[in-house]
Amino acid sequence: MFVVTGATGNVGRTLVSRLAASGAAVTAVSRGRRPVAVPDGVRHHRADLHEPESLRPALAGAEAMFLLVEGAGAGLDVPEILRVATAAGVKRIVLQSSQAVGTRPGVASHAPLHAIEEVVRRSGLGWTILRPGGFASNAFAWVEPVRAGRMVAAPFGDVGLPVVDPDDIAEVAAVVLDGAHEGRTYELTGPALSTPRQRVAELATALGEPIDFVEQTPDEAREQMLRFMPPPVVEGTLAILGAPTEQEQRISPDVATVLGRSPRPFAEWAARNIDAFR
Ligand SMILES: NC(=O)c1ccc[n+]([C@@H]2O[C@H](COP(=O)([O-])OP(=O)(O)OC[C@H]3O[C@@H](n4cnc5c(N)ncnc54)[C@H](OP(=O)(O)O)[C@@H]3O)[C@@H](O)[C@H]2O)c1
Repeated sequence: MFVVTGATGNVGRTLVSRLAASGAAVTAVSRGRRPVAVPDGVRHHRADLHEPESLRPALAGAEAMFLLVEGAGAGLDVPEILRVATAAGVKRIVLQSSQAVGTRPGVASHAPLHAIEEVVRRSGLGWTILRPGGFASNAFAWVEPVRAGRMVAAPFGDVGLPVVDPDDIAEVAAVVLDGAHEGRTYELTGPALSTPRQRVAELATALGEPIDFVEQTPDEAREQMLRFMPPPVVEGTLAILGAPTEQEQRISPDVATVLGRSPRPFAEWAARNIDAFR
């Protein structure tokens, strides 16, 4: 049996479906603040990662756990989460981390996730760590302006990053939960550099209608992001979007290594999710 935390989010939702479709027993975990819809045969368990004991009923009999934290996981007692998991018989953890933990060591926005990686590596459990770059699904932030006025405002319109489809992260997670990739840290990216301007053009193609792209100044973007992100996360995100390192622009081979196929391009994500933008 596999336990999937973050089970109703971008990655977890698909991971739960994939595992269930493969015939595996799955327990999906979230707090239930977002709508819970799991495939037939999947058990959903309400638990809060900030209360590790609340996970205990989900973990009994589990072979492996997919651990996804909100944001960078600040304030979580991950040693205690792993203690509860170990006591329940869990053998393996697949941690969803972030590429920035590797590319920007010491940056405040990702320090908690960096510490969580270390705790997982030293836990004595089997582990695989996934470090995705920016998600294609960050484009959901554009749903409202596209629906309201067929426009998107974003900074750094011509800076390319190899955004990764969350479904690819989920597929990789489904494979590595089985245990054949223990002790590995995988960097997960898309197949090509893609700029915000190009992503908006691809959304317009999927929509069948033009969408205006308006380039924000970094200050305009900062002001907007500060409404829903803490200041260190805003600064960390703007730094990656505006001045990515060479490694952050590298196309990683790791999705293909695990899945035996290329990662999906942004256009596929756009086509699959375009109804949200109508
Ligand atoms: N977006 C990016 O570009 C990017 C890039 C690299 C890494 N990441 C990492 O990816 C992760 C986000 O993945 P995602 O987009 O799939 O997540 P998401 O869509 O934001 O979903 C979060 C999931 O976690 C659950 N959750 C949140 N807080 C919880 C808690 N305290 N206890 C139990 N469940 C909780 C949520 O459901 P409830 O709210 O109902 O509990 C939901 O199921 C973060 O760790 C982030 O650092 C993101």
